[in-house]
Amino acid sequence: MDYKTENSEGESFEMLAKTLFGFEDILSKEIKSLGGKILAKENRAVRFTGDKEILYKVNYHARTVLRVLRPLFVFKAENERELYKNIFNYSWEEVFRVDQTFAVNSVVHSPFFKHSHYVALKVKDAIVDRFRRDTGIRPSVNTNEPDVPVNIHLSNNRCTVSLDGSGESLHKRGYRMGHGAASLNEVLAAGLVSLTGYDGSLPFIDPMCGSGTLVIEAALLAYGIPPGSFGRKYSFQNWLDYDAGLFKKISQERLKKEVDVQEIFGSDVSDKQIRVARMNVYNAGLMDKIKLKEKGMEELRLKFPEGIMLMNPPYGERIKPEHINELYSMIGNTLKRNFHGYTAWVFSGNPGSLKKIGLHSSEKHLLYNSDIKCQFRKFELYQGSKKASKTGTNPQEKRI
Ligand SMILES: C[S@@+](CC[C@H](N)C(=O)[O-])C[C@H]1O[C@@H](n2cnc3c(N)ncnc32)[C@H](O)[C@@H]1O
Repeated sequence: MDYKTENSEGESFEMLAKTLFGFEDILSKEIKSLGGKILAKENRAVRFTGDKEILYKVNYHARTVLRVLRPLFVFKAENERELYKNIFNYSWEEVFRVDQTFAVNSVVHSPFFKHSHYVALKVKDAIVDRFRRDTGIRPSVNTNEPDVPVNIHLSNNRCTVSLDGSGESLHKRGYRMGHGAASLNEVLAAGLVSLTGYDGSLPFIDPMCGSGTLVIEAALLAYGIPPGSFGRKYSFQNWLDYDAGLFKKISQERLKKEVDVQEIFGSDVSDKQIRVARMNVYNAGLMDKIKLKEKGMEELRLKFPEGIMLMNPPYGERIKPEHINELYSMIGNTLKRNFHGYTAWVFSGNPGSLKKIGLHSSEKHLLYNSDIKCQFRKFELYQGSKKASKTGTNPQEKRI
């Protein structure tokens, strides 16, 4: 099967956008709003169709996408010879020039092929041999920064060959200069902000902001600043059909939100982390849009009657268990005492400590931070709710 000539105008093609577990719905909405047609939501991925413009837009504007693959063709292979022959027979000269570099990445779930590295080597040989037969020259492989990354997905005997249109993972926006001890991946941060429903119309606070990823992603979202606007490159720019004029037009578009953006505020107990956050906020060009302060959460007093608070406390890898439990108890007590009227969201990979917050969560999502299983919990801190005033007990203080 060839993916190149799918619709009658020859414009639309199928794509696969990869994301993190739990963000498939958010990414589908993003792709749809950018004009893509959703075919299916898969595990950590969304399959969709669109033209070149949609491919560029999803790479440049979507906040929860890690990479976009463009499938080229599919075939059946049950041995090395069939694999080599099918790859060799494809017209690679229509995909890239012999003076460009390429690399092959493979994912293999197949009883016929045991080693993904070996599959990648065979595919590489077939592409090189094809070019050498036709031009007498071998294209070079560059595994670090290839012009054209090729992706192989072998499931049982079905081999899908795709071009990776993004190149370096899209979480690398380009604004991060300083890493905190436990900085969040930018795509994870953007997805967490989206799950809260934040749109800029309420104040946004991260009282444990570390290197500032959550406040930066919140500001980009609220002000409609594209995550691609920090000058990073995409591998679709190396394809033979690259339309530089079209990409320029897309990169000048701002998907403006008609919201009067309220204050975005980050604080952290560590002066070192605040320095790193300042550097990142500066690099993102957001100095006038984000306020930062060195302060422990327990001492934080804010002037806003309501707001969205989002935090990613330490999970306890480097802290003694009794101290980590104390920290989470402090979070619960501080939320109850000082943040009535707020909606607080806590993202943590330590479920035992999360219970120490001692508040009832009204929503819970299972997510991952790399390979750490995490929970994302919502706590609504009602401002003197009716039930509380009638019974004299605050419904928040139910333990779970
Ligand atoms: C997991 S890191 C946050 C990482 C951040 N989301 C990022 O992307 O860089 C947790 C942060 O909580 C901060 N922290 C720990 N105890 C705190 C407290 N009592 N008040 C405020 N911040 C605290 C740490 O200094 C650390 O920067």
